[in-house]
Amino acid sequence: MSLPTARILGIETSCDETAAAVVSDGRVIHSSTVASQMALHAQYGGVFPELASREHIKAIYAIVDQALIQAHLDIKDVDAIAVTQGPGLAGSLVVGVNMAKGLSLATGKPLIGINHLEGHIYSSWLYPANTTPHEPPRFPLLALLVSGGHSELILVKDYLQYERLGGTLDDAAGEAFDKVARLLDLPYPGGPAIQKASQTGDPNAFPFPRAMLEGTWDFSFSGLKTAVLRTVEALQAEGRPLPIENLAASFQAAVVDVLVEKTLQAAEAFEVKDIIVAGGVSANKSLREKMLNQSTRPVHIPPLSLCTDNAAMIAGAGYYHYIEDDFSSPDFDVLPTWPLT
Ligand code: KG4
Ligand code: ZN
Repeated sequence: MSLPTARILGIETSCDETAAAVVSDGRVIHSSTVASQMALHAQYGGVFPELASREHIKAIYAIVDQALIQAHLDIKDVDAIAVTQGPGLAGSLVVGVNMAKGLSLATGKPLIGINHLEGHIYSSWLYPANTTPHEPPRFPLLALLVSGGHSELILVKDYLQYERLGGTLDDAAGEAFDKVARLLDLPYPGGPAIQKASQTGDPNAFPFPRAMLEGTWDFSFSGLKTAVLRTVEALQAEGRPLPIENLAASFQAAVVDVLVEKTLQAAEAFEVKDIIVAGGVSANKSLREKMLNQSTRPVHIPPLSLCTDNAAMIAGAGYYHYIEDDFSSPDFDVLPTWPLT
Protein backbone atom coordinates (compact mmCIF):
# COMPACT_ATOMS: atom_id res chain seq x y z
CA MET A 1 0.00 0.00 0.00
CA SER A 2 1.49 3.37 -0.91
CA LEU A 3 0.68 6.26 1.40
CA PRO A 4 -0.13 9.77 0.11
CA THR A 5 2.64 12.32 -0.04
CA ALA A 6 2.50 15.29 2.34
CA ARG A 7 4.88 17.90 3.72
CA ILE A 8 4.33 18.83 7.35
CA LEU A 9 5.71 21.81 9.27
CA GLY A 10 6.38 20.74 12.88
CA ILE A 11 6.71 23.06 15.88
CA GLU A 12 7.96 22.03 19.34
CA THR A 13 8.20 24.19 22.50
CA SER A 14 7.23 21.82 25.32
CA CYS A 15 10.27 22.40 27.54
CA ASP A 16 13.50 24.33 26.91
CA GLU A 17 14.06 23.81 23.18
CA THR A 18 12.40 26.03 20.57
CA ALA A 19 12.27 23.90 17.43
CA ALA A 20 10.74 23.79 13.95
CA ALA A 21 11.15 21.34 11.07
CA VAL A 22 9.77 20.34 7.69
CA VAL A 23 9.34 16.59 7.14
CA SER A 24 7.67 14.81 4.26
CA ASP A 25 5.79 11.53 4.44
CA GLY A 26 6.62 10.95 8.11
CA ARG A 27 10.25 10.16 7.23
CA VAL A 28 12.28 12.63 5.17
CA ILE A 29 13.77 15.60 7.06
CA HIS A 30 14.08 18.67 4.80
CA SER A 31 15.04 20.95 7.68
CA SER A 32 15.24 20.85 11.47
CA THR A 33 16.15 23.93 13.50
CA VAL A 34 16.57 23.98 17.27
CA ALA A 35 17.34 26.87 19.64
CA SER A 36 18.44 25.35 22.93
CA GLN A 37 18.12 27.26 26.21
CA MET A 38 20.33 24.75 28.02
CA ALA A 39 23.15 27.19 28.82
CA LEU A 40 20.66 29.67 30.29
CA HIS A 41 18.99 27.12 32.58
CA ALA A 42 22.30 25.50 33.59
CA GLN A 43 22.98 28.39 35.99
CA TYR A 44 19.77 27.48 37.90
CA GLY A 45 20.52 23.72 37.90
CA GLY A 46 17.30 22.94 36.00
CA VAL A 47 14.62 24.40 33.75
CA PHE A 48 13.20 27.70 35.05
CA PRO A 49 9.64 27.68 33.56
CA GLU A 50 9.02 31.44 33.43
CA LEU A 51 12.35 32.04 31.72
CA ALA A 52 11.74 29.15 29.28
CA SER A 53 8.46 30.68 28.16
CA ARG A 54 10.03 34.09 27.55
CA GLU A 55 12.92 32.59 25.59
CA HIS A 56 10.47 30.66 23.37
CA ILE A 57 8.66 33.92 22.57
CA LYS A 58 11.96 35.52 21.54
CA ALA A 59 13.06 32.59 19.35
CA ILE A 60 9.92 31.11 17.81
CA TYR A 61 9.46 33.36 14.79
CA ALA A 62 13.08 33.09 13.59
CA ILE A 63 13.19 29.33 14.21
CA VAL A 64 10.07 28.67 12.10
CA ASP A 65 11.31 31.04 9.41
CA GLN A 66 14.70 29.27 9.30
CA ALA A 67 13.07 25.84 9.03
CA LEU A 68 11.13 27.00 5.95
CA ILE A 69 14.17 28.75 4.41
CA GLN A 70 16.41 25.69 4.92
CA ALA A 71 13.76 23.49 3.30
CA HIS A 72 13.54 26.00 0.39
CA LEU A 73 9.80 26.29 0.98
CA ASP A 74 7.19 28.90 1.59
CA ILE A 75 4.50 28.30 4.23
CA LYS A 76 2.08 27.91 1.27
CA ASP A 77 4.00 24.79 0.18
CA VAL A 78 3.34 22.75 3.34
CA ASP A 79 0.23 20.61 3.66
CA ALA A 80 -0.35 20.94 7.38
CA ILE A 81 1.06 22.35 10.63
CA ALA A 82 1.74 19.97 13.52
CA VAL A 83 2.52 21.31 16.98
CA THR A 84 3.26 19.80 20.38
CA GLN A 85 0.05 20.18 22.40
CA GLY A 86 1.42 18.43 25.54
CA PRO A 87 2.65 17.09 27.86
CA GLY A 88 5.07 19.79 28.96
CA LEU A 89 5.33 23.16 30.67
CA ALA A 90 2.11 25.12 30.09
CA GLY A 91 3.85 28.46 29.57
CA SER A 92 6.23 26.90 27.04
CA LEU A 93 3.63 24.86 25.15
CA VAL A 94 1.37 27.85 24.64
CA VAL A 95 4.06 29.71 22.65
CA GLY A 96 4.36 26.98 20.01
CA VAL A 97 0.62 26.36 19.95
CA ASN A 98 -0.18 30.05 19.43
CA MET A 99 2.38 30.28 16.63
CA ALA A 100 0.89 27.21 14.94
CA LYS A 101 -2.66 28.52 15.36
CA GLY A 102 -1.66 31.85 13.82
CA LEU A 103 -0.04 30.15 10.83
CA SER A 104 -3.02 27.86 10.39
CA LEU A 105 -5.51 30.75 10.52
CA ALA A 106 -3.45 32.85 8.11
CA THR A 107 -2.97 30.07 5.54
CA GLY A 108 -6.02 27.84 5.98
CA LYS A 109 -3.70 24.81 6.48
CA PRO A 110 -4.92 22.09 8.85
CA LEU A 111 -3.64 22.28 12.44
CA ILE A 112 -2.66 19.06 14.20
CA GLY A 113 -1.97 18.81 17.96
CA ILE A 114 0.66 16.18 18.76
CA ASN A 115 1.47 14.33 21.97
CA HIS A 116 5.18 14.97 22.68
CA LEU A 117 5.73 11.30 23.64
CA GLU A 118 4.16 10.18 20.37
CA GLY A 119 6.62 12.50 18.63
CA HIS A 120 9.58 10.78 20.31
CA ILE A 121 8.33 7.42 18.95
CA TYR A 122 8.28 8.63 15.33
CA SER A 123 11.87 9.90 15.56
CA SER A 124 12.89 6.31 14.71
CA TRP A 125 11.41 6.63 11.20
CA LEU A 126 13.26 9.84 10.28
CA TYR A 127 16.26 10.31 7.98
CA PRO A 128 17.76 13.41 6.32
CA ALA A 129 16.81 14.20 2.71
CA ASN A 130 19.46 13.05 0.20
CA THR A 131 20.57 10.12 2.38
CA THR A 132 19.69 6.45 2.05
CA PRO A 133 16.64 5.49 4.14
CA HIS A 134 17.05 2.82 6.81
CA GLU A 135 14.54 0.00 7.30
CA PRO A 136 11.56 1.44 9.25
CA PRO A 137 10.50 -0.16 12.56
CA ARG A 138 7.94 -3.00 12.25
CA PHE A 139 4.68 -3.37 14.20
CA PRO A 140 3.84 -4.48 16.78
CA LEU A 141 6.71 -2.78 18.53
CA LEU A 142 7.69 -1.83 22.05
CA ALA A 143 8.78 1.75 22.73
CA LEU A 144 10.86 2.67 25.75
CA LEU A 145 10.44 6.45 26.18
CA VAL A 146 12.98 7.87 28.58
CA SER A 147 13.29 11.63 28.98
CA GLY A 148 13.52 14.31 31.64
CA GLY A 149 9.79 14.09 32.29
CA HIS A 150 8.87 10.51 31.37
CA SER A 151 9.90 6.86 31.60
CA GLU A 152 7.25 4.84 29.80
CA LEU A 153 6.87 1.45 28.17
CA ILE A 154 4.39 1.69 25.31
CA LEU A 155 3.12 -1.09 23.10
CA VAL A 156 2.65 0.34 19.61
CA LYS A 157 0.33 -1.94 17.64
CA ASP A 158 0.27 0.15 14.46
CA TYR A 159 0.60 3.81 13.45
CA LEU A 160 -1.31 5.86 16.07
CA GLN A 161 -2.31 2.78 18.10
CA TYR A 162 -0.77 2.86 21.56
CA GLU A 163 -1.20 0.91 24.78
CA ARG A 164 0.67 2.25 27.80
CA LEU A 165 2.05 -0.76 29.67
CA GLY A 166 3.63 1.15 32.53
CA GLY A 167 5.75 4.08 33.57
CA THR A 168 7.65 5.62 36.41
CA LEU A 169 5.95 5.79 39.80
CA ASP A 170 8.19 8.65 40.90
CA ASP A 171 11.21 10.19 39.13
CA ALA A 172 11.65 9.89 35.36
CA ALA A 173 14.97 8.33 34.29
CA GLY A 174 16.32 11.67 33.02
CA GLU A 175 15.13 13.41 36.17
CA ALA A 176 17.08 10.85 38.26
CA PHE A 177 20.21 11.58 36.16
CA ASP A 178 19.69 15.32 36.69
CA LYS A 179 19.10 15.02 40.47
CA VAL A 180 22.02 12.65 41.07
CA ALA A 181 24.28 14.93 38.99
CA ARG A 182 23.34 17.81 41.29
CA LEU A 183 24.18 15.63 44.34
CA LEU A 184 27.60 14.94 42.84
CA ASP A 185 28.14 18.62 41.96
CA LEU A 186 28.04 17.88 38.25
CA PRO A 187 26.48 20.42 35.84
CA TYR A 188 22.96 20.46 34.32
CA PRO A 189 21.79 18.60 32.27
CA GLY A 190 22.89 15.70 34.42
CA GLY A 191 22.68 12.89 31.83
CA PRO A 192 25.63 13.89 29.66
CA ALA A 193 27.65 14.92 32.77
CA ILE A 194 27.09 11.55 34.49
CA GLN A 195 27.89 9.70 31.27
CA LYS A 196 31.18 11.61 30.98
CA ALA A 197 32.17 11.03 34.62
CA SER A 198 31.27 7.32 34.28
CA GLN A 199 33.81 6.78 31.52
CA THR A 200 36.62 6.54 34.06
CA GLY A 201 34.52 5.03 36.87
CA ASP A 202 33.89 1.46 38.06
CA PRO A 203 30.19 0.49 37.55
CA ASN A 204 30.58 -2.17 40.27
CA ALA A 205 32.10 0.11 42.90
CA PHE A 206 28.77 0.66 44.73
CA PRO A 207 26.01 -1.99 44.69
CA PHE A 208 23.10 0.43 44.22
CA PRO A 209 19.56 -1.06 44.22
CA ARG A 210 17.75 -2.05 41.02
CA ALA A 211 13.97 -1.75 41.56
CA MET A 212 12.53 -4.34 39.19
CA LEU A 213 8.88 -4.01 40.44
CA GLU A 214 8.16 -7.58 39.31
CA GLY A 215 4.68 -8.21 37.95
CA THR A 216 4.31 -4.67 36.62
CA TRP A 217 5.81 -2.70 33.72
CA ASP A 218 6.41 0.27 36.01
CA PHE A 219 9.69 1.86 37.03
CA SER A 220 10.87 3.57 40.21
CA PHE A 221 14.09 5.53 40.54
CA SER A 222 13.58 7.41 43.82
CA GLY A 223 15.02 4.55 45.95
CA LEU A 224 18.15 4.54 43.80
CA LYS A 225 18.47 8.33 44.11
CA THR A 226 18.13 8.05 47.92
CA ALA A 227 20.75 5.26 48.01
CA VAL A 228 23.22 7.55 46.20
CA LEU A 229 22.39 10.38 48.64
CA ARG A 230 22.94 8.13 51.69
CA THR A 231 26.27 6.90 50.28
CA VAL A 232 27.40 10.48 49.62
CA GLU A 233 26.37 11.52 53.16
CA ALA A 234 28.20 8.54 54.71
CA LEU A 235 31.40 9.29 52.78
CA GLN A 236 31.20 12.98 53.72
CA ALA A 237 30.61 12.11 57.41
CA GLU A 238 33.83 10.08 57.33
CA GLY A 239 35.58 13.09 55.79
CA ARG A 240 36.50 11.09 52.69
CA PRO A 241 36.67 12.70 49.22
CA LEU A 242 33.79 11.67 46.96
CA PRO A 243 34.79 9.14 44.29
CA ILE A 244 32.63 10.98 41.72
CA GLU A 245 33.50 8.74 38.76
CA ASN A 246 32.71 5.51 40.67
CA LEU A 247 29.46 6.94 42.08
CA ALA A 248 28.38 8.14 38.62
CA ALA A 249 29.28 4.85 36.91
CA SER A 250 27.53 2.74 39.59
CA PHE A 251 24.40 4.91 39.41
CA GLN A 252 24.33 4.83 35.60
CA ALA A 253 24.77 1.03 35.58
CA ALA A 254 21.79 0.62 37.96
CA VAL A 255 19.50 2.77 35.76
CA VAL A 256 20.62 1.09 32.54
CA ASP A 257 20.24 -2.44 34.00
CA VAL A 258 16.62 -1.77 35.00
CA LEU A 259 15.67 -0.07 31.71
CA VAL A 260 17.22 -2.80 29.55
CA GLU A 261 15.96 -5.75 31.60
CA LYS A 262 12.36 -4.55 31.86
CA THR A 263 12.23 -3.58 28.19
CA LEU A 264 13.51 -6.97 27.06
CA GLN A 265 11.08 -8.76 29.37
CA ALA A 266 8.14 -6.75 27.98
CA ALA A 267 9.30 -7.32 24.40
CA GLU A 268 9.23 -11.07 25.09
CA ALA A 269 5.89 -10.99 26.92
CA PHE A 270 4.12 -9.07 24.14
CA GLU A 271 5.97 -10.83 21.31
CA VAL A 272 6.82 -7.60 19.54
CA LYS A 273 8.84 -7.56 16.34
CA ASP A 274 11.02 -4.53 17.08
CA ILE A 275 12.08 -2.28 19.96
CA ILE A 276 12.37 1.52 19.86
CA VAL A 277 14.30 3.54 22.45
CA ALA A 278 13.55 7.27 22.38
CA GLY A 279 13.70 10.46 24.44
CA GLY A 280 16.69 12.38 25.83
CA VAL A 281 18.06 9.46 27.91
CA SER A 282 18.29 7.32 24.75
CA ALA A 283 21.37 9.45 23.97
CA ASN A 284 23.11 7.53 26.79
CA LYS A 285 25.98 5.48 25.34
CA SER A 286 25.80 2.71 27.93
CA LEU A 287 22.01 2.32 27.48
CA ARG A 288 22.38 2.20 23.68
CA GLU A 289 25.17 -0.38 23.80
CA LYS A 290 23.52 -2.65 26.35
CA MET A 291 20.13 -2.59 24.60
CA LEU A 292 21.70 -3.34 21.21
CA ASN A 293 23.96 -6.09 22.63
CA GLN A 294 21.35 -7.89 24.71
CA SER A 295 18.28 -7.75 22.48
CA THR A 296 17.52 -10.63 20.14
CA ARG A 297 15.13 -8.30 18.27
CA PRO A 298 16.03 -5.33 16.06
CA VAL A 299 16.47 -2.20 18.22
CA HIS A 300 15.94 1.26 16.69
CA ILE A 301 17.61 4.18 18.47
CA PRO A 302 17.67 7.53 16.67
CA PRO A 303 20.89 9.48 16.11
CA LEU A 304 21.78 11.80 19.00
CA SER A 305 20.29 14.92 17.34
CA LEU A 306 16.89 13.21 17.24
CA CYS A 307 17.04 11.73 20.78
CA THR A 308 16.66 15.08 22.52
CA ASP A 309 13.73 17.40 21.82
CA ASN A 310 13.29 18.46 18.19
CA ALA A 311 10.42 19.32 15.84
CA ALA A 312 11.18 16.79 13.09
CA MET A 313 9.65 14.10 15.33
CA ILE A 314 6.52 16.25 15.77
CA ALA A 315 6.21 16.74 11.99
CA GLY A 316 6.81 12.99 11.55
CA ALA A 317 3.97 12.09 13.92
CA GLY A 318 1.84 14.83 12.33
CA TYR A 319 1.99 13.08 8.96
CA TYR A 320 0.17 9.97 10.25
CA HIS A 321 -2.59 12.11 11.77
CA TYR A 322 -2.79 14.12 8.54
CA ILE A 323 -3.36 11.08 6.35
CA GLU A 324 -5.95 9.77 8.82
CA ASP A 325 -7.75 13.17 8.64
CA ASP A 326 -7.27 13.39 12.38
CA PHE A 327 -7.03 17.19 12.71
CA SER A 328 -7.42 19.15 15.91
CA SER A 329 -10.08 21.77 16.39
CA PRO A 330 -8.39 25.16 15.81
CA ASP A 331 -9.36 26.36 19.29
CA PHE A 332 -7.68 23.48 21.16
CA ASP A 333 -5.86 24.20 24.40
CA VAL A 334 -2.48 22.97 25.64
CA LEU A 335 -2.40 19.78 27.71
CA PRO A 336 0.44 20.00 30.29
CA THR A 337 -0.42 16.43 31.38
CA TRP A 338 -1.34 14.02 28.60
CA PRO A 339 -0.50 10.31 28.91
CA LEU A 340 -0.09 8.35 25.68
CA THR A 341 -2.71 5.61 25.83
O1 KG4 B 1 13.65 14.30 25.72
P1 KG4 B 1 14.41 15.39 26.40
O2 KG4 B 1 15.37 16.21 25.55
O3 KG4 B 1 13.45 16.42 27.09
C1 KG4 B 1 12.29 16.00 27.77
O4 KG4 B 1 11.25 15.76 27.08
O5 KG4 B 1 12.40 15.84 29.02
O6 KG4 B 1 15.21 14.73 27.62
C2 KG4 B 1 16.05 15.47 28.49
C3 KG4 B 1 16.64 14.51 29.52
C4 KG4 B 1 17.44 15.22 30.64
O7 KG4 B 1 16.99 14.72 31.88
C5 KG4 B 1 18.88 14.81 30.36
O8 KG4 B 1 19.68 14.71 31.53
C6 KG4 B 1 18.71 13.45 29.70
O9 KG4 B 1 17.57 13.61 28.87
N1 KG4 B 1 19.88 13.09 28.88
C7 KG4 B 1 20.67 12.03 29.16
C8 KG4 B 1 21.72 12.06 28.21
N2 KG4 B 1 21.53 13.12 27.37
C9 KG4 B 1 20.37 13.74 27.79
N3 KG4 B 1 20.58 11.09 30.12
C10 KG4 B 1 21.55 10.16 30.17
N4 KG4 B 1 22.61 10.12 29.30
C11 KG4 B 1 22.74 11.05 28.32
N5 KG4 B 1 23.77 11.00 27.49
ZN1 ZN C 1 11.21 15.03 25.03
